[in-house]
Amino acid sequence: MKIQWYPGHMTKAKRAMVGDVKIVDLIIEMVDARAPLSTRNPDIDKIANNKARIIILNKADMADDKINEEWLEYFNNKGFHSLLMDSRQRKSINKLNKLIDLACQEKRERDSKRGIKNRPVRAMVTGIPNVGKSTLINSLSGKAMAKTGNKPGVTKGNQWLKLNKSVELLDTPGILWPKFEDEQIGEKIAYIGSINDMIINIRELATNLIKWFLVNKPEVLEERFEIKDLDEHESLIQIAKLRLCLSKGGEYDYDKAASIFVNDFRTGKLGKISLERPKKE
Ligand code: G4P
Repeated sequence: MKIQWYPGHMTKAKRAMVGDVKIVDLIIEMVDARAPLSTRNPDIDKIANNKARIIILNKADMADDKINEEWLEYFNNKGFHSLLMDSRQRKSINKLNKLIDLACQEKRERDSKRGIKNRPVRAMVTGIPNVGKSTLINSLSGKAMAKTGNKPGVTKGNQWLKLNKSVELLDTPGILWPKFEDEQIGEKIAYIGSINDMIINIRELATNLIKWFLVNKPEVLEERFEIKDLDEHESLIQIAKLRLCLSKGGEYDYDKAASIFVNDFRTGKLGKISLERPKKE
């Protein structure tokens, strides 16, 4: 499956990111816990060179609990401070605040050796679209943030949210571009809804996702859609029948059935599903 992407977006996003990174001490990188590698951007390590780092495995509430733990171990072993999160939840935010303290300890010690006291740590949140950056920033700042974008008279430029006396957060997230070199990566990102604004053939996407379920979680298809001993194309027909997806002419509407299936997955109705698992090293 070929997924379109517009290079202009990438260049613009990267330029903004590189600029913002220069003024922060800590980068909080968000990935989707359902596909942590596919939703990472390979350039981030270069861009974030020398900064304190945290990786948040967000939407952990939608991923397999056991596999979540495996990913946590994977990233911890790679030397990142990492955390499983549902960024909509307050208790996750408390844990993150503790981790921010830990990740910045070294910087504080460095500052204090140089005689710098009480300089707040400056942090920014980054990630590809839809991983939950705005949700996290809203939760961290403790209130719904005012949109500053199009209002006349609002100063453009960086605004800092004071999280506590020692941490300030850049109010605009760094948007990273997904990596598409590998078709499977592009597909996983499409399944979880990170490339909604791009041209996707929904029927093809759904058929491929059904195929993934047939291999990895056939019981889910059987339970929800009574799919048994069918291939992915027959399964889509079955979903259209079961969900009464009919077009005006009375024929089955397979695009509608495809949307239903993909949305069921995206909204967690198919259960806690992880699309990737760390390879044993
Ligand atoms: P972004 O800034 O990175 O693009 O992502 P954003 O915060 O807009 O979040 C994208 C969607 O993911 C939102 O849902 C948001 O509520 C949801 N979300 C964020 N974090 C989590 C999480 O940890 N767990 C779960 N289950 N969902 C999360 P939406 O349907 O697009 O909007 P809304 O109607 O919920 O506001």
